[in-house]
Amino acid sequence: MNPKETIEKIFAPGKGILAADESSETATKRLEAVGVASTVETRRQYRELFFECPGAQDYISGVIFYDETWWQKSSAGVSYPEYLASRGIVPGIKVDQGLAAFGDYGETVTLGIEGLGERLDSYAASGARFTKWRAAIQVNPLKQTPTPECLKENARRMAAYAKLVAARGMVAICEPEVLMDGDHTAADAERAIGAALDALFAELAAAQVPLDQVVVKTSMAVPGKDSDEVEPTREVAAMTVCALRAHVPAGTAGVVFLSGGQGPRLATAHLAAIAAHEPLPWPLAYSYARAIQEEALKAWSGKAENLDAARVALLHRLSLLAGADRGEYDPLKD
Ligand code: 13P
Repeated sequence: MNPKETIEKIFAPGKGILAADESSETATKRLEAVGVASTVETRRQYRELFFECPGAQDYISGVIFYDETWWQKSSAGVSYPEYLASRGIVPGIKVDQGLAAFGDYGETVTLGIEGLGERLDSYAASGARFTKWRAAIQVNPLKQTPTPECLKENARRMAAYAKLVAARGMVAICEPEVLMDGDHTAADAERAIGAALDALFAELAAAQVPLDQVVVKTSMAVPGKDSDEVEPTREVAAMTVCALRAHVPAGTAGVVFLSGGQGPRLATAHLAAIAAHEPLPWPLAYSYARAIQEEALKAWSGKAENLDAARVALLHRLSLLAGADRGEYDPLKD
């Protein structure tokens, strides 16, 4: 599959990406929250809930893996990337290695450039068609974050990553996640999204990365978790679209959204309101982890007898997201 075909598949109308790339540490938190002890096998079962759900291929175009799961096998003994590819779902992998402290204001930079070329070769040889690299961008108007220095260093690393990925014929998802932590406003988030995208595209241009192999994974312009501001859905969509139009060049392969802790309903409503602005210069899709997984994970709670009910909850959320991807959402059906 060449990068163009990968992009076409990822952005198939009504479909989106399941982000299942939680580190083992984060997966442990998710499991413990529903009363399940975290082991290599329970983490595999957690993925199985989603990956082996009959009918999920009608909604999910791609899956982002975490390394541990990449090498695990389905209940029938087939490697997970191969199993999903056989169901028409494009396998992708998170390749960054987490965050390190940066500067004096509590910011971070992303780790993982060292040895990246070899790791990419091994993922490409075992079926990866796309990859993801995440930077975490903190917004704190009092500390004047994000700082230009932090944005630039993250963007420089992300461009170096994207260059290595493109050279291997894969698609690079670049994710400068503007965090919801804090009490900032939606307008602060919109500004931070714009600044992070400007830094990213400047470094991508400097590194001569082909933009038709780059997908941007972005936050929406939502207020911080501790903010009192309640921003109407229409406004969130308008501000998000405004930031993207102003800061994502035409010719970029596409834009996907993270849910970032918004909760399933809000993440679905916002997606629909954003998609209602189409046509835009690039295709759009969702690439959610928590907003897809939350309800199903709770319904499952690690018990085999709950698996069917959990998958009903999953397919319900996915069908609502399919509508939202087309700009439609009826809260009464949610
Ligand atoms: P959320 O949708 O839970 O934000 O996760 C998406 C993701 O890939 C975060 O890096």
